[in-house]
Amino acid sequence: MVIPERKIEEVRSAVNIVDIIAETVQLRKRGKNYIGLCPFHQEKTPSFTVSSEKQIYHCFGCHAGGNVFKFLMDYQNVSFVEAVKAIAERVGITIEYHEAPPTEEQTEQEILYDINTVAARYFSNNLLQSLPGEIARSYFEDRKIKVQTQRIFGLGYALQDWDHTVKFLKENNIDLEKAKYLGLIDRKDNGDYYDKFRSRIIFPIFSPNGRVIAFGGRIMDKAAVAKYLNSPESSIYSKRKSLYGLSHSKDEIRRLDKAILVEGYMDLISLFQHGIKNVVASSGTALTEEQVQMLSRYTKNIVVFYDADTAGVKASLRSIELLVRQDFYVKIAELPTGEDPDSFVQKYGKDEFDEYIKRAQNFLEYQTAQLEKQGKFEDPAQQTDAIRELVQSVSFVNDELKRSILIKSVAKKFNLREKLLESELEKVLAVSKHRSELKPAVKEVAIEQERSLDKIAVVKEKSASPVERDLIKLLFEGDKEIVNYIFTYIKPEDFSNSTVRELAEVVHEANLHGENILPAVLIEKITDEKVKEYIINISFDKYVLSKTWEDVRPGTAENIILQKFARDTVRNFRLNLIETELENLHNQIISSKTESETQELLETKQRLIHERRLVQKEE
Ligand code: UTP
Ligand code: MN
Repeated sequence: MVIPERKIEEVRSAVNIVDIIAETVQLRKRGKNYIGLCPFHQEKTPSFTVSSEKQIYHCFGCHAGGNVFKFLMDYQNVSFVEAVKAIAERVGITIEYHEAPPTEEQTEQEILYDINTVAARYFSNNLLQSLPGEIARSYFEDRKIKVQTQRIFGLGYALQDWDHTVKFLKENNIDLEKAKYLGLIDRKDNGDYYDKFRSRIIFPIFSPNGRVIAFGGRIMDKAAVAKYLNSPESSIYSKRKSLYGLSHSKDEIRRLDKAILVEGYMDLISLFQHGIKNVVASSGTALTEEQVQMLSRYTKNIVVFYDADTAGVKASLRSIELLVRQDFYVKIAELPTGEDPDSFVQKYGKDEFDEYIKRAQNFLEYQTAQLEKQGKFEDPAQQTDAIRELVQSVSFVNDELKRSILIKSVAKKFNLREKLLESELEKVLAVSKHRSELKPAVKEVAIEQERSLDKIAVVKEKSASPVERDLIKLLFEGDKEIVNYIFTYIKPEDFSNSTVRELAEVVHEANLHGENILPAVLIEKITDEKVKEYIINISFDKYVLSKTWEDVRPGTAENIILQKFARDTVRNFRLNLIETELENLHNQIISSKTESETQELLETKQRLIHERRLVQKEE
């Protein structure tokens, strides 16, 4: 379903974001903006900000943000199209579909999502309605999963035999090669297709927006070794980047500002059925950086509930570094041996489970307890290693104050001198700092050798410079005059950082075609969520402009201040460009081979120096 871009804009501009948000969030005016308590996480002092000028919102606490459509999508858990339709209906705009043909890539992805949706519905019908589905229905009855819960998670059943799914897909005119690509079916040497999922309980895996991106299929036999068959990676599914259950739990995670991490599909579903709905599952593999990053958009508080067996303890310990490094407040909970969240909550109920959440230890306490269990504190030689291990974990914490509190707690626990631990921490920090400084250098050498353009993208690039940040902020002020001014002197390619460059290109493109350059409109054109988040953050960044504010006489009109700021920033940016070029020239001159080459380079240098003088003198 595609709504033409200009229609989307017509709908968006028919309402004021402040009015829409004010229906659910109590807003009051502060300066140019409106503030209120964020509906996406729990807070006592307002950090949720809405700009009427830019028609976007942003929360300084949980980093939620976007235009009016994004607000509805997140608040009411609806798709983009549904959000547009909801507002269109209110203001009496009729929406026609299928006007603008979607791009090829979009179509391809949509087709894949559709195939999965059709398949999920098929599996679900097998479970809920078909005669042979009885075996699966009684399986769930045994495991005490209600029909209502089965529906919520779209659970299903893949029939026995080899070609039920193939037949069904054929009847529905599904492209079988695409279904094969998605791992629903496969092909024999003789060319016949066959079902991949047979006699299995089906768990659809959803994207955070609730689209079916993959399936997990569980054998019903308890003794089976490899219990699950999971969909392969595809253009719509990356295991590293998906967290099972997030689409169902994200609202509750935001509301409670806390997530519970479990291992299995069944753990999550069981807890959910018992009213514990802020859960995500890492699906058995080690937690990945991408998963942690995804979760951090909803909360920074996490309680990890992994199995109490050795593998579970190992996985918990490994998750600590990843989570702590991304500023999570990490607690680890331990259930009685032999229980997992599913079995535990079924046996003892929600209140008992809540007790275990409350009793969860912070990561350092947990780690200490584990080392104690291993007897590491009994013999002095081992104790040193153990303490070093703890200090190592403390070093993952980015915040200095938090680090020193943690050090104090370790010192107290082991009756050690704080100074001793502090100097140990210093050592660890020095080593890791040294390492991180070393890394880029090593990488650059490698690049020099490879001399491949592709590989350069792999290098962690420099973050945007303050001047670049200022320019981007200016480009997203929605002021046509300023945008024109900036692009008179600077091309999008001039930006060194790729995020910033992408943003500049979006504004440049829109401006070139005489389109609306209001931030709420521009962000709709940005496909990368990270880039989107970056610009929304910057748009609400107070510091940048306030710097200039101090230089200007009070009472000066805002557009005058902005213009002055734009002039200064553009000039600084141009000067930086010239500096960089001069540096390059300098290196070339040093290594130039012939006299005529040197001469030419020197002339260019003179020209640049002259240009620099001109720019400096500009007012
Ligand atoms: P569990 O063995 O704890 O599975 O593995 P479970 O979901 O709790 O299943 P039940 O209770 O035995 O029915 C945890 C997770 O590891 C992944 C699955 O995502 C599972 O939910 N896993 C496990 C696999 O992908 N393949 C396997 O063979 C086993
Ligand atoms: Mn289980």
